Amino acid sequence: MAEDCAIKSADIVGGSSSEIVIMSTLTINLHLMMASFYKPTEKRHKVILEWKPFPSDHYAIESQVVWHGLDPEKSMIKIRPDDDFIITTELILRTIDEHAEDTALILLPGIQYYSGQLFDIPRITAYAQARGILVGWDLAHAAGNVELKLHDWNVDFACWCTYKYINAGPGSIAGAFVHERHGQVEFKNDSGKPSYRPRLMGWYGGDKRVRFNMDNTFIPTAGAGGYQVSNPSAIDLASLSGALSVFNKTSMRDLRSKALVLTAYAEHLMDQMLAESSDETPLFRVITPRDPAQRGTQLSVLLREGLLENVSQALEENGVICDKRKPDVIRVAPVPLYTRFEDVWKFMEVLRGALGP
Ligand SMILES: Cc1ncc(COP(=O)(O)O)c(C=O)c1O
Repeated sequence: MAEDCAIKSADIVGGSSSEIVIMSTLTINLHLMMASFYKPTEKRHKVILEWKPFPSDHYAIESQVVWHGLDPEKSMIKIRPDDDFIITTELILRTIDEHAEDTALILLPGIQYYSGQLFDIPRITAYAQARGILVGWDLAHAAGNVELKLHDWNVDFACWCTYKYINAGPGSIAGAFVHERHGQVEFKNDSGKPSYRPRLMGWYGGDKRVRFNMDNTFIPTAGAGGYQVSNPSAIDLASLSGALSVFNKTSMRDLRSKALVLTAYAEHLMDQMLAESSDETPLFRVITPRDPAQRGTQLSVLLREGLLENVSQALEENGVICDKRKPDVIRVAPVPLYTRFEDVWKFMEVLRGALGP
């Protein structure tokens, strides 16, 4: 069932099914990946991240650094935006240059959960790798949202959850991508012992052909499947398989093309609302980049300070379950799989009312 879900996820992340593994949950997978890909040395010990990742990512990185006996103050390099909430690619590349000699890993979100900014994954990946840095991506807000080509972009590893754009329900089983070059299992000599990238091991990462030999010789499954630790829950996989089967009726290419227009329409209606307002200080502003190439479906609406609770309550009273992120953001994401243009229009009417006098 996990393999079936991996096959069904191939178009979503742009990897072959053997580079995808469906297992555990997102933060656990980040830890598993870092156990294998974050190997600090005296010279290269830093992790580059952004200033305000989703807290779980921050904790995961921080605890990995501490686990290796290092000081987070010295080994975590946090990129602060140079312009409002947006972190430009140039700033990221500059930071990479600045710390190129002593950085082991860069771990960034594909789409930043608060601002909705989509990072230039291929450019940043290639730039960091050319300087000897391994590159991982947290795609919680990007998988099922924008087109991804993880294999072609040569990404080392990526992790995502399935309970946002992939609709499998909160806490549902997550996915990870490991580039094929890191999943190789080679038998170089006659000892029978394979060589492979070191990882945290468990029986379920073991090759099916010998998994039940019970001789304590770990031979990993080739590919991302070899990074599994435990037996995944069949009920979770069934739920995800249902969600993915809907994606398989279309393609990320088609979904993205509808999303671009739906999001532009939402943006247009919000621009109109602001233009019509007589308030001197606008009630809100959209902090997500205006350039469609730098965002997914999400528009992050930064409300005037103090409005969040009242606005979200008014939205809920009008049948809109509100996705709020403290201190002041609501995230409006006209997801193309099930949102019509009319729904966007209706939502904006409700928002207008919620912001009203
Ligand atoms: C960017 C990001 N990282 C980590 C998590 C945590 O996911 P999990 O509870 O599956 O570890 C989330 C969940 O919303 C997230 O959005």
